[in-house]
Amino acid sequence: MSGMASTLRASLIEAAKSALNAADYERHMAAHPVASQAAALALLRAHGHLKSSGWFRSFVTRRPVDASGRPLPWFTYGAIDFLTPRLQPNWRVFEYGSGHSTLWWARHVREVIAAEHHGAWAERIGAQAPANATVVHRPLSEGTTYPDAPLAAGGTFDVIVIDGRERVWCAERCLPALSATGVLIWDNSERERYVPGLEALAAAGFRRVDFDGMGPINTYGWRTSVLYRDDNVLGL
Ligand SMILES: C[S@@+](CC[C@H](N)C(=O)[O-])C[C@H]1O[C@@H](n2cnc3c(N)ncnc32)[C@H](O)[C@@H]1O
Repeated sequence: MSGMASTLRASLIEAAKSALNAADYERHMAAHPVASQAAALALLRAHGHLKSSGWFRSFVTRRPVDASGRPLPWFTYGAIDFLTPRLQPNWRVFEYGSGHSTLWWARHVREVIAAEHHGAWAERIGAQAPANATVVHRPLSEGTTYPDAPLAAGGTFDVIVIDGRERVWCAERCLPALSATGVLIWDNSERERYVPGLEALAAAGFRRVDFDGMGPINTYGWRTSVLYRDDNVLGL
């Protein structure tokens, strides 16, 4: 940043701080709306939650990363903040849809296996994956291999993440591969077309907690849901 830009930013931050502290805050905002908005943005950029969460860095790099540049799942920040302190190193995780989440799970749990329909993306994430992470390429053209990928992987999973293609179909097919205490994470669950899948899970005894809000990269908010039954690995 040039000297002039950093001086301007510093003075905007000071202006924002004094505006926020002013007794006549509303009058100040009304009298100087453009300057107040610029000051608010400068304050957000310098000190706000979007900075500490890494949002600005993710927006610029177009990658879900935290403020240090480490991979994050492309879930809402509320869901990430909820999950992070509850992760257990002995978990096995399955993901429909690979990405930075695969690298994030690998850092925290024993094993992660991700099914990916997109060949180049599978190769790209697979190349970055450590030894406890596997990305399996499952083209959608090959019948049911994509939704059946958790069963084909063998064993059961503590977490299954529904964040790829054919989400309603995957939710139906994956349940035999979910451990008795396992939980599901369904991203973008606000979309109308996923309602039948979410209703079927509710009928199968899953309760749901929704995390609405912003997440990495996007300027809009969305919803990440955690679905669980009694006696589950998250202690819900
Ligand atoms: C929304 S992404 C999320 C994947 C992962 N669960 C995460 O949180 O990082 C879902 C799908 O988008 C596709 N995808 C995401 N980023 C991509 C990119 N930069 N290029 C090509 N495909 C991409 C992949 O096929 C992936 O399975």
